Amino acid sequence: MKFQIKSDSISKLSADIIILVVNGRNKLCSSLGLSKIHQDNLNSIIKLDDIPQATGSVNIAPIQGAFKRVCFVRIQDQDDFGEEDLLKSAKNIIRAIKSIQCGTIVLPLNQFINKKINESTASKLFSRVAIDESYVINSLKSDKKTSKKNHMISFQVNKLDGNTIRLGIKEGQAIAEGMNLTKDLGNLPPNICTPTYLASQARKIAKDFKMKSTILNQKQIEKLKMGSFLSVAKGSRVEPKFIIIEHKKGKKLSKPIVLVGKGITFDAGGISLKPGAAMDEMKYDMCGAATVLGVMKTIGLLNLPINVVGLIPACENMPDGLAVKPGDIVKSMSGQTIEILNTDAEGRLVLCDALTYAERYKPETVIDIATLTGACVIALGHHASAVFSKNDNLANDLLEAGNKSIDKAWRMPLWDEYQPLLNSNFADIANIGGRAAGSITAACFLSRFTKKYSWAHIDIAGTAWNSGKDKGATGRPVSLLSQFLIHKTKK
Ligand code: BES
Ligand code: MN
Ligand code: ZN
Repeated sequence: MKFQIKSDSISKLSADIIILVVNGRNKLCSSLGLSKIHQDNLNSIIKLDDIPQATGSVNIAPIQGAFKRVCFVRIQDQDDFGEEDLLKSAKNIIRAIKSIQCGTIVLPLNQFINKKINESTASKLFSRVAIDESYVINSLKSDKKTSKKNHMISFQVNKLDGNTIRLGIKEGQAIAEGMNLTKDLGNLPPNICTPTYLASQARKIAKDFKMKSTILNQKQIEKLKMGSFLSVAKGSRVEPKFIIIEHKKGKKLSKPIVLVGKGITFDAGGISLKPGAAMDEMKYDMCGAATVLGVMKTIGLLNLPINVVGLIPACENMPDGLAVKPGDIVKSMSGQTIEILNTDAEGRLVLCDALTYAERYKPETVIDIATLTGACVIALGHHASAVFSKNDNLANDLLEAGNKSIDKAWRMPLWDEYQPLLNSNFADIANIGGRAAGSITAACFLSRFTKKYSWAHIDIAGTAWNSGKDKGATGRPVSLLSQFLIHKTKK
């Protein structure tokens, strides 16, 4: 997928296909500057009424002249549509274009600009969606599909404001490439995507973008006294890794934002073994880690002037003879003791030590990202990630970044009333709080390790992958977090 900007009038351009917006009254955008022949030709096709009324619907028709085809997209009210309509339209346009053989695409950008959407937002969303939708699973099937067709999208503009559009395209591309890395890592089988593999990916990103990576092995993790993290890793023959990746392009003394990603490369549940149905999907239990790596790639591609640290506790959760057992009490790096009542609540056990480790950076903010609880899927389904934070500004910034990038999140309570559910008779804290409010008590558990800084937790159990026929990782919430970080650099 390639992009360019054209300031020639439409009558001077030619391509395999042109994208045209049709409003609710079957009218084309008035300022297009189409030739009379085109205009008449197009109006007669529109009169056939083949374009469904719902905003975002598309219809492709052959035409005469410099464009071989037209892809109509319905936008009911051109003065009043927002990012969400734009995303839906962009997705449908790209899917339609991909379904037919066409290499060159002219997309007059002005049709998509109104008081809510500016050039930079439009070019950013279109380029992101174009790359995101062109993703093909890097599968291990023996007969590889033939190479994908190369598309060239020309954003046509009436007056050339090249820089904003160029930056929009650059950001959109960088976000989509970060998402695609996250999808690749999520989709890989757990016998390939091991903690060691995640570590090699962190090293590669660090090398490509002049960041610093540090990989701690079992011995070094033991030295740090991460007893909680290690108790999970004990059940597997595969060595745990603690992965650190640092992007230091902000002001020397400005405090970093630390991103912590859950990196369980397979979650069998441990001794509290999961049922067999769909257990394969627990290969996605490292999508928090994959999100951190995807975001690092995005900010690397953009060379964002900001300090960001990524931390990934990575291991498997397996039922071995030496595995941690229900009833075991372990000591976390923070010194707090934890009674493990269910070994399947392992995400919080690896994250808590990473959150304690984060203290050494004296961070401005710490955000952890985790496929933490099935209860989160019950609460919010697959459309919104859950945000937990005691800091209203931080929570609002994350929600806003989610809205802006159509990678939506919803805030959940983190009130102290829930904390007693984690009381233990034998240790400082229990690792589960019972069936009620399962995603909240998981967040409450983490909160006990985050007293020294401003913190938010994002539960992505419902948003990180799709099940069923479209089974696969989604690359969420890379765009939310990238938007959040990009916004910080512009403040
Ligand atoms: N990785 C799972 C959470 C999960 C479940 C994500 C389903 C996506 C889909 C996590 O480690 C887990 O097993 N959580 C338990 C916690 C419970 C034992 C308190 C859960 O949600 O059942
Ligand atoms: Mn689990
Ligand atoms: Zn898990």
